[in-house]
Amino acid sequence: HRHLLGIEGLSALDLTALLDLADEQVEVSRQVEKKKSTLRGRTQINLFFEPSTRTQSSFEIAGKRLGADVMNMSVASSSVKKGETLVDTAATLNAMRPDLIIVRHHAAGAVHLLAQKVDCSVVNAGDGAHEHPTQALLDALTIRRNKGGIEGLTVAICGDIVHSRVARSNMLLLATLGARVRLVAPSTLLPPGIEGLGFETFTDMRRGLDGADIVMMLRLQRERMNGSFVPSTKEYFRFYGLDQEKLSWAKPDALVMHPGPMNRGVEISSEVADGAQSLIREQVEMGVAVRMAVLEALASHLPNR
Ligand code: CP
Repeated sequence: HRHLLGIEGLSALDLTALLDLADEQVEVSRQVEKKKSTLRGRTQINLFFEPSTRTQSSFEIAGKRLGADVMNMSVASSSVKKGETLVDTAATLNAMRPDLIIVRHHAAGAVHLLAQKVDCSVVNAGDGAHEHPTQALLDALTIRRNKGGIEGLTVAICGDIVHSRVARSNMLLLATLGARVRLVAPSTLLPPGIEGLGFETFTDMRRGLDGADIVMMLRLQRERMNGSFVPSTKEYFRFYGLDQEKLSWAKPDALVMHPGPMNRGVEISSEVADGAQSLIREQVEMGVAVRMAVLEALASHLPNR
């Protein structure tokens, strides 16, 4: 594959190969002094039209660990603010002959469009409510390292599923690797038409968490709600916020995940987020290893210069 635009279309074999490669990168990603040369002489542009803490910084660290020259495009101070279109921005950057462009955009499909307009490899760092493939890969790597595998696990994805690209990529990846995926949310935050696609849905947290090995919490994405249904924070936390009591409904050895950014006291309590069953910090660490693996996997498909 020349690009990584989504989990959709990747086979169990593709995913396992990427996760194996990422596992090998975990030790390397911790050794700052041992930079690799896989991307020496290559230029990586991080083009983020939406805010990011984890994804952008870990792509920058990953690129640098592999020897690439990494440039963070500041969209807020770019000519995008003067009305330049996505296609013109892509053509402009393409003329500078980058080897990799990492893109986050608020519109679903924007990354696919950009990939058609440039000569280099493109990685989707999140497009609207569509996909966030490297997040799903780092979640899977974290699960694998803690549970020994993915097949047969029961994973409860809870919260604002309808607006979540993280949920979508995770649903695709986890189902492909043989996990049982449950979606737990108020009916207004479940994707319409999801019934019959092989995912169990629950509107009741107690039933949804019963027997879960992994409890994956999601943030309420108010920026995507367009005034339709915005639950009150207090009410939401009472019914759907993960606190110690609700976590006790899952398996005793259940582990808690959250892609970040967290809204403490809304979808998760601090006690759980910082507790012994939380993998949240490890997820962030795995982000660097996974992004190194993705960049390495694309390295053999980069343009000949
Ligand atoms: N999980 C995630 O994508 O975080 P950022 O928005 O901080 O990159």
